[in-house]
Amino acid sequence: MSSSTTNIESVLHEERVFPPAASFSEAAHISSPADYERLRAEAADAPEEFWARMAGELHWFKKWDTVLKWDAPHAEWFAGGKTNVSYNCLDRHLETWRRNKAAIIWEGEPGEQRTLTYLQLHREVCRFANVLRRMGVREGDRVALYLPLVPELAIAMLACARIGATHSIIFGGFSATAIIDRVNDAGCRVVVTADGGWRRGAEVKLKETVDEALKGTPTVEHCIVVRRTGSRVNMTAGRDHWWHELAETVSADCPAAELDSEHPLFILYTSGTTGKPKGILHTTAGYLLWAHLTTKWVFDLKDEDTYWCTADIGWVTGHSYVVYGPLSNGATTLMYEGAPNWPEPDRFWRIIERHRVNIFYTAPTAIRAFIKWGEQWVSKHDLSSLRLLGTVGEPINPEAWMWYREVVGGGRCPIVDTWWQTETGGIMISPLPGATPTKPGSATKPLPGIEVDIMTKTGEAVTAAGQGGYLVIKRPWPSMLRTIWGDDARYREAYWSEIDGVYFAGDGARRDRDGYYWIMGRVDDVINVSGHRLGTMEIESALVSHEAVAEAAVVARPDELKGSGIVAFVTLEGSRETSDALKEELRRHVAKEIGALARPDEIRFTDALPKTRSGKIMRRLLREIASSGAVSGDTTTLEDFSVLEKLRAQEEE
Ligand code: PRX
Repeated sequence: MSSSTTNIESVLHEERVFPPAASFSEAAHISSPADYERLRAEAADAPEEFWARMAGELHWFKKWDTVLKWDAPHAEWFAGGKTNVSYNCLDRHLETWRRNKAAIIWEGEPGEQRTLTYLQLHREVCRFANVLRRMGVREGDRVALYLPLVPELAIAMLACARIGATHSIIFGGFSATAIIDRVNDAGCRVVVTADGGWRRGAEVKLKETVDEALKGTPTVEHCIVVRRTGSRVNMTAGRDHWWHELAETVSADCPAAELDSEHPLFILYTSGTTGKPKGILHTTAGYLLWAHLTTKWVFDLKDEDTYWCTADIGWVTGHSYVVYGPLSNGATTLMYEGAPNWPEPDRFWRIIERHRVNIFYTAPTAIRAFIKWGEQWVSKHDLSSLRLLGTVGEPINPEAWMWYREVVGGGRCPIVDTWWQTETGGIMISPLPGATPTKPGSATKPLPGIEVDIMTKTGEAVTAAGQGGYLVIKRPWPSMLRTIWGDDARYREAYWSEIDGVYFAGDGARRDRDGYYWIMGRVDDVINVSGHRLGTMEIESALVSHEAVAEAAVVARPDELKGSGIVAFVTLEGSRETSDALKEELRRHVAKEIGALARPDEIRFTDALPKTRSGKIMRRLLREIASSGAVSGDTTTLEDFSVLEKLRAQEEE
């Protein structure tokens, strides 16, 4: 825990309140504050009955025996029950009028369009499930998915879920080294990838990266390749196979496996404060239940909606709110492969207009980019189909919130600012759009069934309105992470040991006098870049792995677009000279080790890092230096930390 966060002070004051329009509330699933309070009270007073009632929304091959077994910090939800996520997302809709409804509407960046109805998606999923089986994949085996945002990614996820294989999706922007770490940690037997994908007009050559990675992944037996861009790739005989060729050889009949409620559904790696990324494990029934309910409640999803969450499926938002939540609800989910500014900065608005999108869920970093690109790109399109807007991933500043409301939403759409994490599996704190008056910049209140609070480090509740503290979750919830793959000790330590008896989210927050939560950002050494989590330690390790680097310390500095930018302070090995070329090389090196997302915005050379006498890097000082603007003079000169020596004594107190 960094020293700057022991005292969390809140500075934001925001008085505007926007109640839902009567016309919206009337038609909403949860349509008044009283409805919300009723559900909350029901969940608080008799949680097991509440969750049992909710679980009735899913299909069960066999009903559960116990709603919750809680042996802190380990939960089992709906033990004894048998279900299947793929069945819930597909088969059950085939028995209804939805079988010919669009499940996925997809647009590629170059402009192609594909629509898959529930019936068509089901066939593709069954085929690919049979392909996986033919490759030797069995219940409990891990399959890595490293794909662009194409329908095959959703198909592969659902195929894994269908046969009880556990998927591990690796964001398509990650490097070969990042793939190696993740694939080896999970012991994946199969990797599914594509020749490439399109991003801002350029091909991202995924197969090339996978080829490099597979040199270091002894558990991988097969690599299945989607033909997406049509560019030339190397296929290693015996190991590599084309998806479309395999799919022709199997039947489209593949009944969904009847899986235990706690069967591992997926692992998703996310950054923590120390060491390698953590493999967050989510299981079957509880995860799906919460993805299902929150999609319905928070997005007020109706059968006639066209729903678009812009997240990449490589992140948890894409898992829960591009694929599982919407499909479980029988919705039409839109997927777009590429960049928001390709070929021009109005691509998103063009898509909304073309497909008459009703519900739009994106990230504050994207909204800030839209603001920068200018209102004219938005206003030239007819966005009158929109009825609800959402944000996720980082705190949204009130100005961006207001712009989103006025310019994109035409002043008529409620905004749901949704707080949650990879670990929580689904949305925890959010307005219910027909019930909750919103305040720009606040995620408002916890959803029914979710008991959050704000505490001091020693576990006392912070009750005073407006006072900052640590955000915690006090009761188990169905979609909570079950453990960290292969490292249960780290699970206990990272989430359940910081404050006794509660889940420690790693965020600072305050609650105002109306009981509204205001998230203040990470309180650990995790940097939120464009809504994506990066551990400072990970970036530091990447830097130190370069032969010129002796030591490195990475901190965040505020960035208008990305939320946070990355500044790295680097000391070089004795014989190495500083130069701009070396800075560039180090930036490239980090991108290669982790992915472009982690590339430092700035490298600063220093002949020593400021440390306490016990050897701890004084990050707070580095953060201050990094935030206080550009270094004057020659950018290649060494940072002079001698002045900081004086502060050392104070820092240690
Ligand atoms: O700091 C919080 C921030 O994103 C972190 C979770 O990151 P990740 O696991 O990558 O999941 C992102 C998408 C769910 C949180 O600890 N965060 C997420 N949503 C919000 C947020 N911060 C403020 N407001 C939000 N709505």
